[in-house]
Amino acid sequence: MPEAPSYDYKTVQVGFEDGIAWVTLNRPEKRNAVSAEMATEMVDVVDKLEIDDRCQVFVLTGAGESFCAGMDLRDYFRSSDADTAVKRARLYRTNGTWQWRRLLNYPKPTIAMVNGWCFGGAFTPVIACDIAVAADEATFGLSEINWGIIPAGIVSKALSTVVRQREALYYVMTGETFDGKRAAQIGMVTESVPLAHLRQRTVEIARVLMKKNPNVLRQAKTAFKYAAEMPWDAAGEYLMAKSDQTTFNDPERGREKGMGQFLDEKSYKPGLAPYRRDD
Ligand code: ACO
Repeated sequence: MPEAPSYDYKTVQVGFEDGIAWVTLNRPEKRNAVSAEMATEMVDVVDKLEIDDRCQVFVLTGAGESFCAGMDLRDYFRSSDADTAVKRARLYRTNGTWQWRRLLNYPKPTIAMVNGWCFGGAFTPVIACDIAVAADEATFGLSEINWGIIPAGIVSKALSTVVRQREALYYVMTGETFDGKRAAQIGMVTESVPLAHLRQRTVEIARVLMKKNPNVLRQAKTAFKYAAEMPWDAAGEYLMAKSDQTTFNDPERGREKGMGQFLDEKSYKPGLAPYRRDD
């Protein structure tokens, strides 16, 4: 048996529970602002969880009253201002690696569970996750304008993929905060629930995802995200090829099981539930 990987970090906590990997940004004394150390540790976390069977669903959250107060202003601005362009680019690349390059098309389902403060750079991983659930009481803000910068990193691009321009520009330009309910209204998160129910609702969604065929789930999210960026004709070709690839590579032969259980056995209705995977 290969040894289980170690998840011993200073700024991140990783725990496993019934198929869910709980990844907690863990600098509560700094409201979980992303330090250079946290970014490096998070790259390792996403790398290891990708092939850890205990992680069927990846949940990202924050310790204490904050989800994440954005980038650590000391590490990402003040202390690196005098660095060479190459060194700064490297610092930002490490953060971009976990926040979106890896998370955006992560091979496992991802849920951002926004439990509290969520500012600036913290928008990126929330948007990169497949599903985001916020506490009604959470506070979101594009605070960049308040301290004299633009939402950079990749925040403006990320925002434009989920929030309509009217609302996006309003928050980019005013820096006004908004709560979880408003975040759900404008498409920043999938839904918002009272903080007291946040974890329970997240587990509920994770359990639904865990009942699906993981191979098809992986291909479905990747296909959706890439197709969204393509012209129609290219997307049509790509999706049909992706669909064939999914069927061809599916160790579970899900498509055949699904059709068999519906058309022959008449034992379930695909409109209402997933096929039985243990047959
Ligand atoms: N970078 C560096 N340090 C931070 C950050 C941050 N983004 N956020 C909080 N901290 C630190 C504070 O400096 C403070 O440190 P100290 O104890 O050494 O003084 C500690 O965390 C606690 O912060 P408080 O401000 O005392 O906490 P409070 O609960 O009163 O307020 C809030 C929380 C609203 C999140 C506030 O800390 C804040 O406005 N943080 C900055 C949010 C922000 O604008 N982030 C940057 C977005 S832009 C980007 O990401 C590129």
